[in-house]
Amino acid sequence: MYSRRSFIKRSLVATSLIAVSGKVTKVFAAEKPVMKTNQPKRVLVTWFSQTGHTGRIGKLIAHVLASKGLEVTSGDMREISPSTAPEFDLILAGSPVHYFKPSYGASDWIKRLPSIESIPVATWVTFGNDGSNQHNAACDLLEMLEEKGGVPVAVNMFSNMNAFPPSLDGDRVLRYKHLPNEETFQKARLYAADVLKKVEENRSWEIDFLFTMYEPMKVLGMAWWTKKFMMQDHHIDENLCIRCYSCMGKCPVNAIKVDTNYIDTDRCVACMGCVNVCPTSAMKIKSFGDPVHGFTQFLRRKNITIKEPKEFS
Ligand SMILES: Cc1cc2nc3c(=O)[nH]c(=O)nc-3n(C[C@H](O)[C@H](O)[C@H](O)COP(=O)(O)O)c2cc1C
Repeated sequence: MYSRRSFIKRSLVATSLIAVSGKVTKVFAAEKPVMKTNQPKRVLVTWFSQTGHTGRIGKLIAHVLASKGLEVTSGDMREISPSTAPEFDLILAGSPVHYFKPSYGASDWIKRLPSIESIPVATWVTFGNDGSNQHNAACDLLEMLEEKGGVPVAVNMFSNMNAFPPSLDGDRVLRYKHLPNEETFQKARLYAADVLKKVEENRSWEIDFLFTMYEPMKVLGMAWWTKKFMMQDHHIDENLCIRCYSCMGKCPVNAIKVDTNYIDTDRCVACMGCVNVCPTSAMKIKSFGDPVHGFTQFLRRKNITIKEPKEFS
């Protein structure tokens, strides 16, 4: 018989040993995850995009893979049923960075996936501010796919003009007005080819987060703070609204009802897609008390046309 003290001591030692040996075993026994196939035929390239940046890169990646003879299904996540994902031999998923993380819309789509056991997966993000956690956001997206059974292969990041409406009045956004450019598109073409090569050579990737000061911000609920201070007085101006319903098409949580002129601000996830796509500035918000305009209006006002890859222009 053990005394109570000795029993607790022995239990603690045993538990630590089990934990340590578990870790050690994992390190030594870390087997390469098995990919469904190293000769992929059917590929899914899908993205969540509010102002077109992520979609533009996705379309180019899909084009490159199709030109290599693969059967490619591509489109915005709102058009692709998550239930079809297990049919593919390779999945590439893209998202904008929103509040230092992948967008709510992309994360939600991945949450709704069934098991994608052994399917090789790769991600990309587009972002507006250099050095704002974009690598980790792409890793977050990849990790979510890995949790569904996918085998991580690669991540990539593409810089653009920031489409965060409260930032659009500053000069910082205009500094990036030359992006995306041919260099961005070439990077996307090479990424598509590289992902395919890695799958063919059975080269999976161990997800590698970077240490950044933005990690704590992710848990602070930045969308909530934004709603409180940068999305005040969120409403539709009935006199300006032309009932095109583009705001409803972008809202990832169905919080907008144009016909009844209603916005469920509790449901809103502050992606600002509605403000960004409204063609007539009928979607109103105030940031710290001042009216804010969206990306569509910004491009028009500054006479900016976003460059398209030569494949599509
Ligand atoms: C609500 C919102 C939050 C954003 N947060 C970030 C951010 O944390 N870091 C960053 O670099 N860019 C941020 N951006 C900029 C977007 O990531 C960038 O404009 C992206 O390319 C937009 O992609 P899309 O056109 O496919 O929607 C944000 C944009 C919006 C609308």
